[in-house]
Amino acid sequence: QELIMTQNIAPASTTAGTTARTAHHRRYLMCRPEHFTVSYTINPWMEPANPTDTARAVRQWQDLYDTYIALGHEIELIDPVEGLPDMVYTANGGFLIDGIAYGPKFRFAERAGEAGPFIDWFRAAGFDTREPVEVNEGEGDFLLVGDVILAGTGFRSTGDSHREVGEVFGREVISLTLTDPRFYHLDTAIAVLDPIEGIENGGPERANIAYLPSAFDEASQAILAARYPDAIHVSDEDGAVFGLNSASDGYNVIISPRAKGFEAQLRERGYNPIMVDLSELLLGGGGIKCCTLELRGARA
Ligand code: ARG
Repeated sequence: QELIMTQNIAPASTTAGTTARTAHHRRYLMCRPEHFTVSYTINPWMEPANPTDTARAVRQWQDLYDTYIALGHEIELIDPVEGLPDMVYTANGGFLIDGIAYGPKFRFAERAGEAGPFIDWFRAAGFDTREPVEVNEGEGDFLLVGDVILAGTGFRSTGDSHREVGEVFGREVISLTLTDPRFYHLDTAIAVLDPIEGIENGGPERANIAYLPSAFDEASQAILAARYPDAIHVSDEDGAVFGLNSASDGYNVIISPRAKGFEAQLRERGYNPIMVDLSELLLGGGGIKCCTLELRGARA
């Protein structure tokens, strides 16, 4: 077992400089990668000729699960379906705020079969489900930052889905265009660091982010620079190991052990980086955030 329990896992808060960071409770949906393999190519990371080790994928995924549990988070599980190896990347299964679940409509036929199981799960769990008309890949391309939705396009979710997600949730949507095929989902190029609760409880006035500027077109880079002047800019090196594909509770930030520069940047800002290695799941083009879908809002 590749356990990481020797690290500092503390649901406490800390103070660095003037910024107090507080861990917030999270409820996540995950899917054990029992049927994980790479049998098709829909992103540049996937190479079906390279062997995959399903048992290793499950062990690494279990480390992530155990880490969330140790931090006091609540994990829900959706049953894996044979023949849908990408179902482990639950971030693409929907986007949920205030008990409303906006369902996915996958870009590629290989993943289309996941939409039904995800919508069924949300319905059974008591969420108010909304079936999409437009192509969108859930929290892979939609990130809630404070009270606005950052929405990615260029490779997977369409610009029309940005309008649709805005109508479903009645929130401001900021469209961003991804240009590097390695970073085909927004959650591979932006990490949300602070929760909305931080703002409500007198935390950072503006929920902050970390991002990889080179993953975006110029117009999107300008929008990000104007909106998030205090954002962490990660290096191309850290971006390339999926350093941004991470999960934050406002204090603890689960990241790849290979993202050394990002780890140091987080510490400087008073966050607590915790390293979990999902190298096997990276063979499918996914990391920590991809395996994590936030369930926001109480069950009905
Ligand atoms: N193989 C999957 C795909 O290409 C990986 C999805 C990664 N998910 C994410 N949220 N970035 O769709």
